Amino acid sequence: MSFVEIKNLTKRWGDVTAVDNVSFSIDEGSFLTLLGPSGCGKTTILRMIAGLEIPTAGEISIGGRIVFSSEKRNLYSCKGKGTGACISELCPLAAYDCI
Ligand SMILES: Nc1ncnc2c1ncn2[C@@H]1O[C@H](COP(=O)(O)OP(=O)(O)O)[C@@H](O)[C@H]1O
Ligand SMILES: [Mg+2]
Repeated sequence: MSFVEIKNLTKRWGDVTAVDNVSFSIDEGSFLTLLGPSGCGKTTILRMIAGLEIPTAGEISIGGRIVFSSEKRNLYSCKGKGTGACISELCPLAAYDCI
């Protein structure tokens, strides 16, 4: 099992489907880049992993622990997940500096 496991993650706001049935995994110590056009759902995925947005459906596991599951009665907890976010608009570095 990978450190982060994302299964069939979906987020809808009314008629807007921001994230549509996305699955991926991230091994511990590795890097993953979400690359795509504006509005394709990158920020929404990161906000759901960080516990800042509640998914419509799917499952998120971090460190072998399910932190959200729509099927297992929304076992949702932001505490102790060790996640964080750096908002790009507030970051003084250009994209290539970060790479
Ligand atoms: N709080 C929100 N309410 C309604 N729609 C939203 C909200 N946040 C994002 N969206 C919509 O979800 C889609 C994905 O947005 P976002 O995750 O910010 O994309 P990205 O980060 O790839 O540019 C867009 O259509 C955006 O307008
Ligand atoms: Mg974004």
